[in-house]
Amino acid sequence: MSATMTKNQKLLDWVKSVEELCTPKSVYWCDGSKEEFDRLANEMVEAGTFVKLNESIKPNSYYCKSDPADVARVEDRTFICTENPEETGPTNNWIHPQEMKQKLNELFKGSMKGRTMYVIPFSMGPLGSKIAHIGVEISDSPYVVCNMHIMTRVGEKVLEVLGDGDFVPCLHSVGAPLNDGEKDVPWPCNGENKYIVHFPEEKSIWSYGSGYGGNALLGKKCFALRIASTMAREEGWLADHMLILGITNPEGEKKYIAAAFPSACGKTNLAMLTPSLPGWKVETVGDDIAWMKFGEDGRLYAINPEAGFFGVAPGTSMDTNPNAILSLQANSIFTNVALTPEGDVWWEGLTKKKPSKLTDWKGNEWTPESKTPAAHPNSRFTTPAKQCPVIDPKWEDPEGVPISAILFGGRRATSIPLVYEAFDWHHGVFLGSIVSSEQTAAAEGKIGAVRRDPFAMLPFCGYNMADYFAHWLSFMHRTETDKLPKFFSVNWFRKDENGKFLWPGFGDNIRVLKWIFDRIDNKVDAVETPIGYLPSIDSLDVSDLTITKEELSSILNVDTEGWLNEVDETRNYYKLFGDRLPSELIDEVNELEERLKS
Ligand code: GTP
Ligand code: SPV
Ligand code: MN
Repeated sequence: MSATMTKNQKLLDWVKSVEELCTPKSVYWCDGSKEEFDRLANEMVEAGTFVKLNESIKPNSYYCKSDPADVARVEDRTFICTENPEETGPTNNWIHPQEMKQKLNELFKGSMKGRTMYVIPFSMGPLGSKIAHIGVEISDSPYVVCNMHIMTRVGEKVLEVLGDGDFVPCLHSVGAPLNDGEKDVPWPCNGENKYIVHFPEEKSIWSYGSGYGGNALLGKKCFALRIASTMAREEGWLADHMLILGITNPEGEKKYIAAAFPSACGKTNLAMLTPSLPGWKVETVGDDIAWMKFGEDGRLYAINPEAGFFGVAPGTSMDTNPNAILSLQANSIFTNVALTPEGDVWWEGLTKKKPSKLTDWKGNEWTPESKTPAAHPNSRFTTPAKQCPVIDPKWEDPEGVPISAILFGGRRATSIPLVYEAFDWHHGVFLGSIVSSEQTAAAEGKIGAVRRDPFAMLPFCGYNMADYFAHWLSFMHRTETDKLPKFFSVNWFRKDENGKFLWPGFGDNIRVLKWIFDRIDNKVDAVETPIGYLPSIDSLDVSDLTITKEELSSILNVDTEGWLNEVDETRNYYKLFGDRLPSELIDEVNELEERLKS
């Protein structure tokens, strides 16, 4: 493909200006073809970036290890640049756009020297769908191109659909120019300078210095969440960090559910759950991002803007998530996992018995006696969504799927019950605003520290979080109450005093989904408590589970002391937003306290 494929002047001008700024060796327009993927993958094998996996075990698949200093999203290097810092809000890093542009222009100047500059036209959402949006990523990383092939819809068709319309320019450089004659390294990146920058006012993205995941695959968190959330606010829709699943009961009735959990807190697993209860079926629409708009019938409809899964490898096995394992058998990229002598991949939790010998994610020899994990905790697989055995028949439906329930969850060892239901829309938005979770390896930072992660959007909201809460609250007035989804809070991660998970999780989470499914139509009773509606011990189907009555009542218990503490912490947290915090949320926290004390 070449520049002659498009007459879009904004695109042509932008590509030209980036070429002049970054001075690459050559410019290449991606066509999204299999031939292109294979050719770039082969080049990366030759360069030592990729190792081709054994064709008879994992056809058309590659192993890749990143620089050990480039393994996760860098939240403290992520910026939202608006004229007025109030627009960015207290939960995002802000720098004035002019100052940031100056800095970026210096950094990008000559940054692609000695490298090919790839122009990647992509669609987030089914091509041509009213709900979809087009982006163009310019990157000097062939690793990014191959991953974008899987994660988005790339190619000539995108330019056709784009015509002379608008697109989101996404500029990416690994920030490692090559001097004449200088030999490249397998994973070029910039150790000193990483900048993941968003300009919501002009809807553009500049990313410098990292080649990993959400830092570099700009269609994902940068576009489909940070920029899309600002578009959604302006246009009256929602862009959120949510999985979307279809669930069918034994009678054949089907509903769709969306769920927001922070990074590495179980979205991929829930989205493709294999039910342990007979007769139930779960199908996957998306595992990470949902764009939701009202349909003509006044209900909220969701699409998955992505085309692939960029899933957490560790913990993924035939026991925990067989559908993920079955998805990633071919045409996949594995980053920072371990390599077996047979040319297959391995990670902690994949098999009960550890292989006797591996190459770990750093390239060192590894044995079960080794003191360090074989795979990085944030190692990931990139795999096409269409390979998922339980992909939903409507996963590419341009109209989206109607959402009946929205779940919030996080990793909380104490206090937060297994499941409870919000009283109404305002209370549901309140539950979203108080999501908190122990930090995981998906981002740089202290693992295990509990932090507030409202709507699982803390690192992904492109504007002032207080305005985001107000946006969610406003949906109550945009349709009739009975057409809105119901809200629930879930927590699979309660632990006993020995640190053991109290709830079996994974396929057994269907038991909680079953209760939710029946609550949507008020078909099952609930106990009204100060925090919301909880299942009674008998209404949760725990048939064939070994969990004791005591354990069950402890995870379905309202810990009044713990919740009064949550009230204090919520009030403290809310102070961050000052006057901008919607008064409805203050009312919610006051009412919660009253209910707990009465
Ligand atoms: P991102 O891709 O970072 O947004 O993560 P995610 O929310 O999709 O999380 P994912 O499903 O990949 O799960 C992350 C980790 O949590 C994996 O190691 C899973 O094995 C583990 N996990 C998922 N569901 C459960 C569960 O129900 N119980 C327990 N104990 N662990 C779970
Ligand atoms: C997350 O961190 O929530 C992810 C992985 O889904 S990344 O694409 O790196 O953001
Ligand atoms: Mn995610």
